[in-house]
Amino acid sequence: MFPIGIHDIALATGHYALDLEELAERHGVDPGKYTVGLGQSTQTVPATDEDIVTMAAAAAKQIMAEHDAGDIRTVLLATETGIDQSKAAAIYVQDLLGLPSSTRAVELKQACYGGTSALHFAAGLVHRNPGHKVLVLASDIAKYDLGSAGEATQGAAAVAMLVSADPAVAVLEPVSGLYTANVQDFWRPNYRSTPMVDGKLSVSLYLEAVEQVWKDYEARGGRAIQDFAAFCYHQPFTRMAYKAHARLLEIHGIDTDNARLDADLAATTVYNRLVGNSYTASLYVGLMSLLDHAEDLSGRSVGMLSYGSGCVAEFFGLSMVPGYRRRLRTSANQSAIARREPISYERYREIREFELPEDGSSKVLAVDGAGPFRLRAVAEHSRMYEACHLIQA
Ligand code: HMG
Repeated sequence: MFPIGIHDIALATGHYALDLEELAERHGVDPGKYTVGLGQSTQTVPATDEDIVTMAAAAAKQIMAEHDAGDIRTVLLATETGIDQSKAAAIYVQDLLGLPSSTRAVELKQACYGGTSALHFAAGLVHRNPGHKVLVLASDIAKYDLGSAGEATQGAAAVAMLVSADPAVAVLEPVSGLYTANVQDFWRPNYRSTPMVDGKLSVSLYLEAVEQVWKDYEARGGRAIQDFAAFCYHQPFTRMAYKAHARLLEIHGIDTDNARLDADLAATTVYNRLVGNSYTASLYVGLMSLLDHAEDLSGRSVGMLSYGSGCVAEFFGLSMVPGYRRRLRTSANQSAIARREPISYERYREIREFELPEDGSSKVLAVDGAGPFRLRAVAEHSRMYEACHLIQA
């Protein structure tokens, strides 16, 4: 069997950054609750002309600059910030990227787990036809009710991954631990723009899922915990990775002091601490953060834990391909985050109040963000995007 996995990986985020100390002040809470208790410093706030399509296309554009579009037969876009109940957001991205019409483009959903499902489904497609590559996109904007506990965990980002045979970055290991349970911890009915959340329940269900996926992973002949050189977790807020990792270590009777947790997790939380929750993309933002900040992991395994409310979870290993570091875009990733424009609380509230017409009327959007793609207008219930060749890539 030939290896299948991540051949290339790229990141994009939104235009603005809101400082959580300012949000804490507005909420009348000690800033330490957000910066230490949740482990978040800033959150990405997308501009009014950005959405999941523009962010996904911005991430994917970096990959397309280095690979032949003709090899891509499938685009899978995972999101829980869908812009349409019927048409896949992947079709807009396929068009913006100029991918051949001989491509299948589909959207996938299962809360934050959707990106992981896309990655594994992509591997199945490549297994069926090793000459084909699959573009996997995970793109989300996490938005909670104003003044709610979740507001401090908002964020936005997109990750694009090219999945192929003989990958240059990471091989998907064959064993997965899986867990699904019908629970109501976080969900968003079609008529709401923000989720219903039972925050405390969601934390305990995530931790229960850690135990269950490991149990299944072990039963199916997975690696021993000591075989992993590093771990990445879905990060709704970075302290959640600490809670989850502590639970995994406890199951194995391993001491979970803060120094141990920091040593294991600090590298994987650098980006998420700044962009906030990016739902489907969050685990892979964590992976990019790890690869950009850790020592060389060539030939070693990274444990990946994906959790999506509702809930579905999966634990699997990625085996890092020797020389993978040559493929990383560390400076592009860092600058995508660093160049975000700091935003005042007042401007953040204006953006929250901005709404696209829902009555079929037309609206041409003023230029707000500075990404390579933007939402130009909405008319007759349709979104129209454009490439901004003169603006930064
Ligand atoms: P809360 O209930 O307001 O916060 O919201 P809290 O009172 O639990 O405090 C948070 C932490 O800050 C606590 O630490 C406090 O002790 C600490 P912990 O006990 O947990 O270790 N703290 C302080 N630390 C330092 N200095 C201080 C201070 N004050 C307090 N002064 C909650 C927390 C997570 C519930 C809320 O943010 C929320 O509802 N978030 C949204 C839901 C969420 O993120 N759930 C996570 C698991 S579910 C998941 O990951 C899936 C998800 O991504 C969705 C999807 O799958 O699509 C959300």
